[in-house]
Amino acid sequence: MTDQPTPAYAGPERVLSGVQPSGALHLGNYLGALKKFVALQDQFPTFLFVADMHAITVWQDPALLADQTREIAAAYLAAGLDPKKAAIFPQSAVRAHAELAWVFNCVARLGWLDRMTQFKEKSGKHKERSSIGLYTYPVLQAADILAYKATRVPVGEDQKQHLELTRDIAAKFNNDFNAPGFFPQPDPMIQGPGARIMSLRDGSAKMSKSDPSDLSRINLTDDADTIAKKIKKATTDPNPLPEDAADLDGRPEAKNLVGIYGALAGISSAEVLKQFGGQGFGAFKPALADLAVESLAPVSDAMRRFLGDKAEIDKVLADGAGRASEIAEPVVAEVKRLVGFWPGRA
Ligand code: AMP
Ligand code: TRP
Repeated sequence: MTDQPTPAYAGPERVLSGVQPSGALHLGNYLGALKKFVALQDQFPTFLFVADMHAITVWQDPALLADQTREIAAAYLAAGLDPKKAAIFPQSAVRAHAELAWVFNCVARLGWLDRMTQFKEKSGKHKERSSIGLYTYPVLQAADILAYKATRVPVGEDQKQHLELTRDIAAKFNNDFNAPGFFPQPDPMIQGPGARIMSLRDGSAKMSKSDPSDLSRINLTDDADTIAKKIKKATTDPNPLPEDAADLDGRPEAKNLVGIYGALAGISSAEVLKQFGGQGFGAFKPALADLAVESLAPVSDAMRRFLGDKAEIDKVLADGAGRASEIAEPVVAEVKRLVGFWPGRA
């Protein structure tokens, strides 16, 4: 028996991803995540949740959290997600996430979590004052993914390590509970030009909700003037754009702006440079601002429209939670059986 190859996962393809309701969405979220979801919803059953359980790993005002959750749902819809195709729901409304997370807390090893760089970044100097939830955050993320046996997880580059941990947890669970091929090895769909959008102020830091400078990011809700102003003020170097994409190396700010242009236009950096190589930022920045406004204005308009109809958003979220539960509940029931919880395995 032991030298039999482990059977590969044979279940259906499913796409799953989540975004935390912990601040305004920015261009990095849009290009690294939302835009990719839209392309996938026509190809595979798609599950998109609002990660409110992850959000409370750091303090969230209880008076605001539900509306922040609705905002992310509105952004999903505004980006072009169709709630009839993709199930859109709050993480906390599907209890499978929490139930599976507990089992995975007992599968994952302390040494694995000790390596997680996001915890180190987020806990900063005061590790002992962080919540335990912040530490075990990647285990909950593994549960989010595997409760649906998701095979494809479109995320930005910053989530790569969490996806590797998810794969390790899946493999160890299958192995520990003698259930070869039970959980898939999910594919982190990180590739693509928007995977790592950097701050407009500092080409070595990622664009982030938590950056204290609002000039560092373009928010999905920024108006046209604000977008143009932020791009105009973006840090650059004094040289013209190169003809060759390889010459962007060592010029992080230039590389980022060219990357953003390409991601918005759906073309490669090389193609952007075919058009703008040899030109200065004085010419490139206005073109980028126009493209950003043109791409984001419909999204922010739609977002405002959706947010005006809270009842409709709540309907989408409740319906999505129901459909998500239908997939996740049987997976968790099977996990409980494999673990040997009452009434036992037989
Ligand atoms: P978060 O806002 O941290 O919940 O992230 C939601 C999604 O956006 C995740 O898939 C992230 O990987 C992605 N994301 C966040 N920041 C960036 C960025 N600067 N560039 C590309 N993707 C990002
Ligand atoms: N940790 C992700 C982020 O901060 C959000 C998230 C939670 C997620 N659970 C997930 C993403 C499951 C993909 C799959 O961006």
